[in-house]
Amino acid sequence: MDRLEIEGGAPLRGEVQVSGSKNATLPALFATLLAPGVHHLRCVPDLRDIRTTFAVLRTLGVQVEMGARSRVQADASKVENFEAPYDLVRTMRASILALGPLVARHGKARVSLPGGCAIGARPIDQHLKALRALGAQIDLEHGYVNARAKRLTGARIVFDQVTVGGTEQAMMAAVLARGETVLENAAREPEISELAKILTSMGAKIDGAGDSVITISGVDELRPMDHAMAADRIEAGSFMVAAAMTRGDLLIRDCPANHLDAVIEKLREAGAQIETSGKGVRVRGPDRLQPVQITTAPYPGFPTDMQAQLMAACAIANGASVIRETIFENRYMHVPELVRMGADITVEGHTAVIRGVSSLSGAPVMASDLRAGVALVIAGLAARGKTVVNRVYHLDRGYEGIEKKLRKAGARIRRVRSRG
Ligand code: EPZ
Repeated sequence: MDRLEIEGGAPLRGEVQVSGSKNATLPALFATLLAPGVHHLRCVPDLRDIRTTFAVLRTLGVQVEMGARSRVQADASKVENFEAPYDLVRTMRASILALGPLVARHGKARVSLPGGCAIGARPIDQHLKALRALGAQIDLEHGYVNARAKRLTGARIVFDQVTVGGTEQAMMAAVLARGETVLENAAREPEISELAKILTSMGAKIDGAGDSVITISGVDELRPMDHAMAADRIEAGSFMVAAAMTRGDLLIRDCPANHLDAVIEKLREAGAQIETSGKGVRVRGPDRLQPVQITTAPYPGFPTDMQAQLMAACAIANGASVIRETIFENRYMHVPELVRMGADITVEGHTAVIRGVSSLSGAPVMASDLRAGVALVIAGLAARGKTVVNRVYHLDRGYEGIEKKLRKAGARIRRVRSRG
């Protein structure tokens, strides 16, 4: 297993380029199942989760290739298998997004239940509730979801809680349903708006994406997409924290600042100087960060996917910060690792109290999930001495060439490849 070795203390300077959004690309790739023909996607990040999605699509019969310059071509003319197997789904939960498109276009789907996850239970009841409301017959057996429908029918669906994946699933099913679907209490994340844009370009009729009520008028068929993915807001936010924590001065190119309001507000409160321009976002870190209070919430609230990174920053702030995680029940796996680096953090239930220390000290640590992993890398960049982040495969799921990008910005970081 690869590891990252970081010699801390170098401020991030210069420029860094943000890649295409992982969490927008995943549903876009599953949406290719909705229309026969050759789909084109640009600005696709080369990540482990994207490659896993290719594997799922290939199993189903889609011919998908990653070409040069982040371009992907997917020919979905001959979808002839309808099963996403456990071995793939267990490595990436988002594979469940195959369900809606398959049942909408092909009338049947069999997708493994994702099972447990490091950050929480993450049930899929809202996905299934939406598909049932649209008329799919759903059975769970032998660890698989079986879905069948002659043709889905539009329905009013009120989500019991805001869910990004559940909203995407329902949208991808409803676009080919007969009649109108209304999604209430829908997620408002930028990834939802981007999926709506893609589906609309394919011929779907969608109103209200980005608001909590989305109306979809089903159509009989869709055509292939040709779309350039937006930049990854969480990758960009992670670089912002890294610059702020290392007393850096970093221009983050293609940073989707308009989707990062809540993060920018907290970083400014913590003392970072942030300027947006046509080129991107420039972040300058203060001598010492100030403490902040953060509660994660669905968009446009503070994103749970930035919680671990901000906690790393709070660990060296001048005073006590409080973070409340309201989206996932177990998303504090980075805490014991940050404590190994000298952080003073106590967790009670969903609340973490972080008493800032003057500096962190490098240590061997272990990434437990994607965002926990990047938080440890950022902590290592700001720490005194050497940090070794183990289990880098978690980072490779969502950060394209992270060590190369950081090294270009002055970080002393290198990947040590495992033997064998
Ligand atoms: C998406 O996951 C993202 N993943 C996550 O990013 C992100 O943390 C999350 O949204 C929240 O913003 C992708 O886009 C691929 P949810 P998703 O459904 O869709 C509960 C990362 O690091 N829930 O919005 O799975 C669920 O347990 C990842 O890039 C149900 O109870 O998240 C959670 O508590 C990690 N029943 C809450 O809703 C359901 O049927 C929000 O989850 C569905 C969800």
